[in-house]
Amino acid sequence: MKKSTRVNHPPRIELPPDNHAVVAPIYQSVKFEFDTVEETERYLRGERPGFFYSRASNPTTRQLELLLAELQGREECLVTASGVGAISQTLLALTRQGDHIVCFIETYNPTRYLIRRLLSRFGVRHTMLPIEDIAAVERVLAATATRLVFFESPTNPVTKIADISALTRLARSAGALTLMDNTFAGFHQHGEYEIDVFIHSLTKYASGAGDVMGGAVIGRADLIRSLRLDFGALGGTLDPHAAYLILRGLKTYFVRYQAQCASAQKVAEFLAAHPAVSKVHYPGLASHPQHALAKAQMKDFGTIVTFDMRAGAAAGGRFAQELKLFALAASLGSTESLVVAPQMMGGRDLTPEQLQVSSLTEGTVRLSIGLEDLEDLLEDVRQALEAATAAG
Ligand SMILES: Cc1ncc(COP(=O)(O)O)c(C=O)c1O
Repeated sequence: MKKSTRVNHPPRIELPPDNHAVVAPIYQSVKFEFDTVEETERYLRGERPGFFYSRASNPTTRQLELLLAELQGREECLVTASGVGAISQTLLALTRQGDHIVCFIETYNPTRYLIRRLLSRFGVRHTMLPIEDIAAVERVLAATATRLVFFESPTNPVTKIADISALTRLARSAGALTLMDNTFAGFHQHGEYEIDVFIHSLTKYASGAGDVMGGAVIGRADLIRSLRLDFGALGGTLDPHAAYLILRGLKTYFVRYQAQCASAQKVAEFLAAHPAVSKVHYPGLASHPQHALAKAQMKDFGTIVTFDMRAGAAAGGRFAQELKLFALAASLGSTESLVVAPQMMGGRDLTPEQLQVSSLTEGTVRLSIGLEDLEDLLEDVRQALEAATAAG
């Protein structure tokens, strides 16, 4: 064999059956081969297990899928290249022309865009309601045959709480599927509710390091498996190296999430007591309008603290800029703290009436609390509030 051939066919390393890598390897290979054409055919006919092409399946991404399904308390999972990929591919795979979706004003912007702008181009209709208006959900489901109800809890960015029992009960009796974007709450929450499909952005708490993107769709086996062909055709596959980084991040998921939630609670309490702040949205505060519902549904209240600067947008912008430990950046759930200034906040697609329902104001600021020392975070928030108000 010439050396130019050899470099393309390097020596194989096979582990003895009783010798295992303690950390699972990354299967950074697009292609997998069987020894014979016959076995390849049997695989392609679905008659034997194995792997063939990584857009459809790969051992590393499969390991992540199995772990996430178990964490969320369901049978099956598909991972995707981003959280938005998980949302868009699921919506495309589950709907057809003429279907109707119930969705909510207080929802992550790109989800609203996908339902209102993209799916409507394919003849999928929707009704967008306030998340707290269960009576309106009941009315709409009674009046219009509905394919699915899509919601979040806590909602992004103002942390409203969906009444999950009410929504799943109403959807089920109307024959509609429930899809819940559970990114804010995390994999260890809400599994006991009768939600058909959970969606997560793995970019956030799963990885924790803010250096990789991914998404997941989790539910019962028959439903999730029915999506697999469409997902393969849509092509938003998670790369095995990204899957490996997410698997690595998940090892510290529980300790990170708990520690960040504990700090978020203290930051929320500090903000609520500060005169420059007119309102704090954090489900763990007794002053949150749905604190009782949050307590009943959740084990921890999340790491997002959203609040309104009394002096409005300019003060909110100054506050965000004055922070030293919070990066002025989108996303959430990383080990480093982040801030979204009012000027960076979405919601421009909403009417003034919908904006009012959303509880977004000119001065709304969103904090994602990281793993820094709590005293340092509180001191940073204190000095930034002071600087922002002094300058105003
Ligand atoms: C609630 C929620 N869902 C989905 C996403 C999208 O995830 P990704 O950025 O991985 O596409 C985000 C991102 O911020 C989010 O906050």
